Amino acid sequence: MSLETFTLESLRADIEAWVKEIQFKKEPRNLYAPILYSLSLGGKRLRPLMCVATCSLFRDDTYNARNAAMAIEMFHNFTLLHDDVMDNSMLRRGQPTVHAKWDANTAILSGDQMLIEAYKLISDVDSPAATLILDVFNKTATEVCEGQQYDMDFEKQDNVTVDQYMEMIRLKTAVLLAASIKIGALIGGANITDTNALYDFGINIGLAFQLQDDFLDVYGDEKTFGKPIGGDIIEGKKTFLLITALQDASSSQKKELLQWLNNENANRSEKIAAVTNLYDKIGVKEKTENKIDELLNKAMRMLSAMEISAEGKRFMADFVSMLVKRNR
Ligand code: IPE
Ligand code: IPE
Ligand code: MG
Ligand code: MG
Ligand code: MG
Repeated sequence: MSLETFTLESLRADIEAWVKEIQFKKEPRNLYAPILYSLSLGGKRLRPLMCVATCSLFRDDTYNARNAAMAIEMFHNFTLLHDDVMDNSMLRRGQPTVHAKWDANTAILSGDQMLIEAYKLISDVDSPAATLILDVFNKTATEVCEGQQYDMDFEKQDNVTVDQYMEMIRLKTAVLLAASIKIGALIGGANITDTNALYDFGINIGLAFQLQDDFLDVYGDEKTFGKPIGGDIIEGKKTFLLITALQDASSSQKKELLQWLNNENANRSEKIAAVTNLYDKIGVKEKTENKIDELLNKAMRMLSAMEISAEGKRFMADFVSMLVKRNR
């Protein structure tokens, strides 16, 4: 496979077919069925897509990237099972989350098993860089947990800064996308300079991606987003939108915002509507869009400075514009 012969869509179809091959015919069903349920609900498959595509920048044979791509997708889905428990989220990809369909204990244990499955897959990567790849995977897995802990800690903290938020989303989200790219590059045999440049590119698109996720949690359409709108407002997540709103609000707006946020007995839809209305008045929407554009432009500048093929740059640029289009 080479980038001249595949598009984002054809590669996504390959990944979908690989995911379908993952089967667990074992008992107990309540351990394995939620894993298959989670994997079968689709999702965008961004991380495996990037892993395989990046490998193909450096070698035509991407067969060895397959196990790594599946390990990363399995790991990602594991984080979602636990994240949905932690965030009290009932809907994902337009369907009930695992803890809503089964229960929290099932989501915890099936999630644990998915982490084990992810490690089995990453251990099966056949590459001279296998040890390095495992190091990247381990470091990334720890960082995701650190990011998730900050995310929860920040729910109870009123003075979170934009810098602290950016570091939190770097950890919980950006590093996994960046690691997908880095592992693809390592399997492809890329040199250190290219591998590091691609990792930094991945961090910037990963940051933009989480900012967009926060944006869509308020301004998205539940049908395409697949998650209930306003969940972050209800959970008191310190998103870029909330931090910016608190910073830019007049003193009366700030008072009103904090009153709504601290009112745990408020009607869900009234609270979401009131906070969104304050966001609109304070001008949070534009500020968030500008921050996303800034990060994506930075990523595009990094991409054009890289010494990779024109085809590779086109593919990566298509990927970035797909991320942007999805969200607005
Ligand atoms: C969801 O990731 C978690 C975040 C980092 C925002 P995705 O939006 O990539 O989830 P799926 O796999 O496409 O559903
Ligand atoms: C997700 O952040 C980060 C991880 C799952 C590690 P969110 O909590 O915003 O993701 P969604 O919105 O539930 O997909
Ligand atoms: Mg969540
Ligand atoms: Mg979360
Ligand atoms: Mg979110």
